[in-house]
Parts: sequence; C-alpha cells; structure tokens
Amino acid sequence: MRTQVGIIGAGPAGLLLAHLLHLRGIDSVVLERRSRDYVERRVRAGVLEQGTVDTLVAAGVGERLQREGLPHRGIELRYGGAGHRVSFERLVPGRAITVYGQQEVVKDLIAARLSAGGDLRFEVDDVAVHAIDTARPYLTFGGERLDCDFIAGCDGFHGVSRSSIPPGVLTEYVRDYPFSWLGVLARVKPSAEELVYARTERGFALHSMRSAEVSRFYLQVPADENIAGWPDERIWAELKTRLETVPGFTLATGEIMEKSVTPMRGFVAEPMRYGRLYLAGDAAHIVPPTGAKGLNLAVADVRVLTEALARFYESGSTVLLDGYSRTCLKRVWRVQHFSWWMTTLLHTFDSDDAYERRLQLSHLDYVTSSEAAATALAENYIGLPYEEAGAEDEHVARAEPREEPW
Ligand code: APR
Ligand code: PHB
Repeated sequence: MRTQVGIIGAGPAGLLLAHLLHLRGIDSVVLERRSRDYVERRVRAGVLEQGTVDTLVAAGVGERLQREGLPHRGIELRYGGAGHRVSFERLVPGRAITVYGQQEVVKDLIAARLSAGGDLRFEVDDVAVHAIDTARPYLTFGGERLDCDFIAGCDGFHGVSRSSIPPGVLTEYVRDYPFSWLGVLARVKPSAEELVYARTERGFALHSMRSAEVSRFYLQVPADENIAGWPDERIWAELKTRLETVPGFTLATGEIMEKSVTPMRGFVAEPMRYGRLYLAGDAAHIVPPTGAKGLNLAVADVRVLTEALARFYESGSTVLLDGYSRTCLKRVWRVQHFSWWMTTLLHTFDSDDAYERRLQLSHLDYVTSSEAAATALAENYIGLPYEEAGAEDEHVARAEPREEPW
C-alpha cells in the first residue's frame, strides 16, 4: 500500500490533519490503536479557542459545534471569599472561547473523514515506524506495509512515534506537578453561567460544563490519587467546600457519569521532527490542563504541518517543512508558560510557605484589579493569533543566527 502521509493516531491532531490534507488534495491513511467507540467516548477537556473554532468552521466540520457549543465571554476567578470576573469581551473584544467537549470534536472529524471516503483504520495495535531518516519512510502493522512520503506522529504522549526517534536526537523538557486533577462529568444543570476557577486553602477546584444538563468539575488531589478513595458523596462534599465560598452560591448535585484522575505535567520534546517523521499534538508536548490548551495546541501544530506539506506538494519547496518545528515551538513554549502560570496561580503547593501563599494571593489580586494583568490572562486564554505561514522563516533568514536548537 502507498499513501502520501501516513498518520499515526486518531485523536484531534491526527483526524484534523487528515481532513485538512484532504481539503488540499493530499492523501493520507490514519492508523488508530483503539476502537472508534473508545476514542469517541474518551472524556477530555472542552474549551476551544477562537482560532480553533475558526479552523474547524473553515474546514467544514463546525456545523454541530456552532449549534451546540457554548460561547463564553469571560471566566470567574474565585478566592478569598469573592468571585472576580475576567471579561474577555472587554479585554479582547470580538473574541470568545467555546465550551464543546473534545470527544464531540473527535466525533465530528471521524464523521467528516468517513463521509469523504477517507482511509481511517481503528484497532491497529502494532504500528511500527521505519526508515524515517530516508526519503522512503514506511509503516508496518498487522502484516501489512504502508509506504509514505511523510509520517505524522499524532499518537499522543504514550505513542510509538516519538520513541522511534534514535536516542540523543531529542531534548526533553519535563515539569511534573506534585498533584493531579480528579475530573468528574455529572448529569446536573451547571450552577454557574461561566467557568469558575477556584483557589482555596484545601486546593483548586474548577466548575465547567458541557450543556444545559451536564456539568464538568475538577478537583486538585494528591499526585497519583486512587479514584477508589473518592466515592460520589466525597466528591460532592469536597466540591461544595471549595466552590461554595461566595455569598449566594449553591452547587447543584446530580448523578456522576464518569470520574478519573489525570496527572499534571508539562512536557516538550525538541525538535518536533526527525527526518520525514513530524510530531504533532500530545506526541510532542503536553500541558497541565489549567489553561485548557492541549487540544488547541494540537490544532495549531496541524495547521502549520498542513501548510508545510501543501507547499511541498505544490512547489517542491521544503522551506516550511524545515521551519515546522521552529514555528510550532514558539507557540508551544508560550502555552507552556501560560499553563504553568495559571497552574501556579491557582493551586496549593505543599512546599509553599506562608510567604509564597501571600505572594499567590497578591498575584491574584493584581490579575483581578489591573487591566494590564487581566489582559495578559485574557489574550492567552482566548488564544494568541496564528502566525502567517512562512513569516517566521523569512524573518529568521534575515536575522542573526539564534541560539535555539531546533
Ligand atoms: N498506534 C496507533 N495509535 C496510537 C498509538 C499507536 N502506537 N499510540 C497512541 N495512539 C492513539 C491513541 O489511542 C489516541 O487516540 O493516538 C491518539 C492520540 O490522541 P490524543 O491523545 O487525543 O492526542 P492529540 O490528538 O495530540 O490531541 C491532543 O488530547 O490529551 C489531549 O489534552 C490533550 O486535548 C489535547 C489533545
Ligand atoms: C473542561 O471543561 O473540561 C475544562 C475547562 C477548563 C479547563 C480545563 C478543562 O481549564
């Protein structure tokens, strides 16, 4: 078998890449280890940046998103017995976020791929990557061989593609946080209209939502906490303690449909390319979910990779492919910083002494009272604009050589 781009992984990165390439007349095959049902049910974060929404709409996969997604024009930071709204409509006019579950994005993309006759294979659990440092890379799986021009590693943090790169090529940057998030999906009307990020002495809590009938919550818990220690009553009691901290706010409770514990980690592998293997999304980087950036960053990578591959197929030029890693990593590091910053602002760290706790509260007061500080939060949360394809490469070509390794 042969295709132009072999894509490993049918998460948001792999599926969107396949779809965007198809719109540019480029063939691909997507190989996914799990079943369709599994990937369509996997509950993840659910905040889409304006640019992500625009990308999905422009690609023709935004119809349900526009109908069912919940546009939000602000968030609340709750601490010290008061709620403080950060207004996106005032600070970054004309831009909003949309609350829409990641698995809904995945369902829409799978439907679009299949209706366009795309080659998308599930339950392929033995993909191996070969000859990526040659012009004829290929994938093997289930006794078959798929020859490709390029391979896209969109197989998440635990995938096979990053680990196929020879030792010594990548530099990996890691930040493990000393806590996890316990995520809860509940059949209950949201108790707030916008997302509430709550900092308390007992730890962080987040009230989010999926629809008028379904709410999403997160609780900061110790790292690697066992979910068995969290029966539903304990979850509701802790959510109430951390969220019912402002006058007049009562948390409605209901049936818990899903709960799981996610470790909090920042990770970047550089460069995001080796030979003809290009990493995108969680395969190359992960962020703690506090800024809700994981999916959005995967979309940004895939946009850059699509432009680069399209340029190559149109003109034979590798200039954008050669700039892929550098272009993506600029945004990746901005988002690493923002996610680290939001995490540090809102969580309790056992290692913090009384001085650091005071600094944290002062920082929160600053963000909720200074227009300049709130704007920095708002523009990062809504998502910084995309760079124009190739702009950075021309800039770098003119500038002095820089120290970056990619
Ligand atoms: N072979 C084939 N598929 C694989 C393999 C493998 N060896 N290993 C992993 N996969 C699949 C996973 O089953 C998953 O469906 O790759 C897919 C990767 O998808 P995601 O983990 O969703 O990653 P990505 O598409 O980069 O999306 C990033 O996901 O983790 C969230 O917060 C993150 O929202 C962000 C988004
Ligand atoms: C979610 O709704 O899942 C969500 C919202 C905001 C975050 C993280 C997750 O920061």
